[in-house]
Amino acid sequence: MDEVYKPVSTSRTTLTELMIPSYANFGGKIHGGILLSLMDKVAYACAAKHAGRYCVTVSVDGVDFLQPVEVGNLVHLQASVNHVGRTSLVVGIRVTAENISTGVIRHTNTSYFTMVAKNEDGSNAVVPGLQLETRDDVRRFLEAIKRKELKQTYRSELDNVKTQLEIEVDLPKLTDERCEILANALNR
Ligand SMILES: CC(C)(COP(=O)(O)OP(=O)(O)OC[C@H]1O[C@@H](n2cnc3c(N)ncnc32)[C@H](O)[C@@H]1OP(=O)(O)O)[C@@H](O)C(=O)NCCC(=O)NCCS
Repeated sequence: MDEVYKPVSTSRTTLTELMIPSYANFGGKIHGGILLSLMDKVAYACAAKHAGRYCVTVSVDGVDFLQPVEVGNLVHLQASVNHVGRTSLVVGIRVTAENISTGVIRHTNTSYFTMVAKNEDGSNAVVPGLQLETRDDVRRFLEAIKRKELKQTYRSELDNVKTQLEIEVDLPKLTDERCEILANALNR
């Protein structure tokens, strides 16, 4: 059977939401969880459009909230499929916050959601290939491959940290850290 390919543009999705006061934290800024939830929604819509079926979120990368979002801002979330594997898709999401009064738009973060398509019986479903229509599409696809490779290296390094850590050997590293080791802590 011939492979099916779908262009990036057919699943590109934008979600816009007004930041109302009930979305704010005690400091008066928008809760990170509200933004995460919106990102998850737009990632779902974009992935499900490409896959033509239900998708689940498997992994989230690059969520750093370095700029606060204010109550009253209009938040725009632009999502597109950056990469497809066999059953997984990486959706890139660019988040911007618009000050409605001044028109100033700030880029708050770009994150990458890995989603997996599902069959009705819950098994993973093969997704259509991706037609890359622009130079940016090609760049994003290649970047996603690079991120995947780096994540694999990071994961195996992380496993090594867990299996190979020797507290006594690494103790000197704590000298300049802001912690104090209580008497007998190492024997408890
Ligand atoms: C995650 C899940 C899809 C893995 O399925 P699986 O059959 O055990 O695993 P597979 O190894 O075949 O992985 C399926 C795909 O997911 C990808 N994948 C699995 N774990 C991943 C991870 N941590 N990060 C990125 N991609 C991952 C694999 O690379 C594979 O992609 P490919 O088919 O494009 O090559 C499955 O465990 C699941 O459905 N989990 C529940 C997800 C969910 O409910 N999410 C909602 C969160 S509230």
